[in-house]
Formats: sequence, C-alpha cells, structure tokens
Amino acid sequence: MTAVQESARVLANDRLGRDTYRIRLECPELASRIRPGQFVMVRADRPNDPLLGRPFALYDTVLDGQGAVVGIDIVYLVVGKTTGLLAQSAAGDRIGLWGPLGNGFRPIESAGHIALIAGGIGQTPFLAYARELLGTRGFAGSDPKKRAERVTVYYGVRSAEYAAGVSDFEAAGCTVRLTSNDGTIGVKGFVTDLVASELPADRWIACGPEPMLHAVSDLANRLGIPCDVSLETPMACGLGICFSCVTKIRTPDGWDYKRVCVDGPVFDACNVVW
Ligand SMILES: Cc1cc2nc3c(=O)[nH]c(=O)nc-3n(C[C@H](O)[C@H](O)[C@H](O)COP(=O)(O)OP(=O)(O)OC[C@H]3O[C@@H](n4cnc5c(N)ncnc54)[C@H](O)[C@@H]3O)c2cc1C
Ligand code: FES
Repeated sequence: MTAVQESARVLANDRLGRDTYRIRLECPELASRIRPGQFVMVRADRPNDPLLGRPFALYDTVLDGQGAVVGIDIVYLVVGKTTGLLAQSAAGDRIGLWGPLGNGFRPIESAGHIALIAGGIGQTPFLAYARELLGTRGFAGSDPKKRAERVTVYYGVRSAEYAAGVSDFEAAGCTVRLTSNDGTIGVKGFVTDLVASELPADRWIACGPEPMLHAVSDLANRLGIPCDVSLETPMACGLGICFSCVTKIRTPDGWDYKRVCVDGPVFDACNVVW
C-alpha cells in the first residue's frame, strides 16, 4: 500500500524496561495500511537535528472501543538522538511519521509451529506478526485468519532489566522462552544456544543483531529449516533513493546489493551473504 506522511499525536509513552519505551501514536491513515514486518520512518519534532528519520518496526496497531484502527505502537531502545528525544515525549506532543515502508513478513497461509527468534530489541516486529499468525487481528484491511497452530517467541536479552513486552506476547497467545547473558531471567546464555538445543518449530523467523541472525541462519540452513530474517540495517531515506542500506543478497549469478528498505527488511536467510 502507498506510504503516507502524518504528524502523529503522542497518546502515551510508557517505560517497558531499561532504556526501553512503548510510544503510542495516533495516525489512523498509516495504521490502517501497515502490515507486520513493515516499518515506519520517525522524525522527532525538531527543525534540523536529527535531519533524517529513523526506521522503527510496527510493534502493534491500536484499536478504539469499536475496533477501528486509530494508531500504532512502536517499542524503542534509547541509543542516540532520535530515541533520546522520543523518550522525552509526552502525551499531546507531535512526531513526524511516514510509512508503511518495506515488504513485511512473507505471508504464511498454513503452518504448524512457528518460532519467532529475537535478540536485543529484535522482538519489536513480532507482536503484530504473532497476532496475524494466530488469527486474532487483521492488518491493512484484511480479516483475521488463523495461519499457524502455535507460536513460540525465543527472546534473548542482556539481563532481566532489558526484557520488554514479555507480557504482551503472552497475552497474545505466544509461548515465551527467555534467555539472558547474565542469567538474571530465563536460561543463562545466548538465545541461539537455546534454539540450537531445542530445535523448535517448522519455520523460524529471526530479528536482532547481525551476529545472532548469522548464527540462526547457519543453523537453519544446516538443518534445512525454512528461515527468514528481518534486518535492522541503518537507513537514511527508507524509500530506496540513497542506497545507504544495501546488503549482499545471493542471485543466480552470485550476489548483488539489495536495498533493505525496499527489497526487505525481511529476507530468506538462505539468500543473505553474511
Ligand atoms: C527496519 C528497521 C526496524 C527497526 N526497528 C526498531 C525498533 O522497533 N525499535 C528500535 O529501538 N530500533 C529499531 N531499529 C533500529 C533504529 O532504527 C536505530 O537504533 C536508530 O538509529 C536509532 O536512532 P537514534 O537517532 O536514536 O540513534 P542514532 O543517532 O541513529 O545512532 C546511535 C548509535 O547506534 C548506532 N546504530 C544506529 N543504527 C544501528 C543499527 N541498525 N545497528 C547497529 N547500530 C546502529 C549508531 O552507529 C550510533 O552509534 C530498526 C532499524 C531498522 C532498519
Ligand atoms: S535507506 Fe535509502 S535506499 Fe534504503
């Protein structure tokens, strides 16, 4: 669907974990078009600094009392200027938004058990996706339809204080399997180790830091498990113009650079040249 630009009103901005917030934005036009796995470009309401927008995944759509789509939630980790400004936003402020952008997750018609594998802030695209897979919400005008029997979220964090949105995933009907580097929550170790020891599900979809995606992708390829990855490559325009987001993707002749913003951000893990 065509992207739109909106000046979205902040409805709420709640802390979910250490340096991690969920911002609720009123943007009915954009919200009625976006699908799980797509992203929006966000620009804080400042004249020049930062000049460029930053990409953020759809966390969830927001419905009013009658079930109409009125906005979106974004969950963000404070790492720099834009996220620092977002953290200072309060209800009533305005935020510049454009989207939906990117292709979103590949449609799945019917599946048994799906594993959504997240590291760091990589859980953010998975709440809306879990709702779509379990058939509890429709997106972009489509009716809800059950597409998977079961969804397990494997979610690795540095320590307990960074775990954000776990109750949202549980309330959405997912099983959540947590790991932390320091053992303060879930199983101690990397999320990739837990996935490797359990080898869950018929299909994997992963999002997070590149070394984690590389490890998940190698494992899935070795075992022949279909696996998609959602890349978090830094982006300048989000619209396919600047080529700042290119990544190497296999082609029949070898490989070629693809723009993550318009050709992704979701790719078949077999095709990514790490
Ligand atoms: C499709 C997509 C979806 C995303 N969804 C989310 C989301 O839902 N929530 C969220 O918190 N973040 C998300 N990100 C990452 C987010 O866009 C960046 O963290 C963004 O740069 C933050 O902006 P900033 O101005 O606060 O920090 P900046 O000033 O841009 O950067 C701060 C620091 O982070 C580094 N950095 C910036 N981007 C990345 C990156 N992608 N990987 C590694 N280091 C980076 C910079 O080098 C710098 O050191 C997503 C990225 C993409 C491409
Ligand atoms: S961010 Fe500009 S081409 Fe992808």
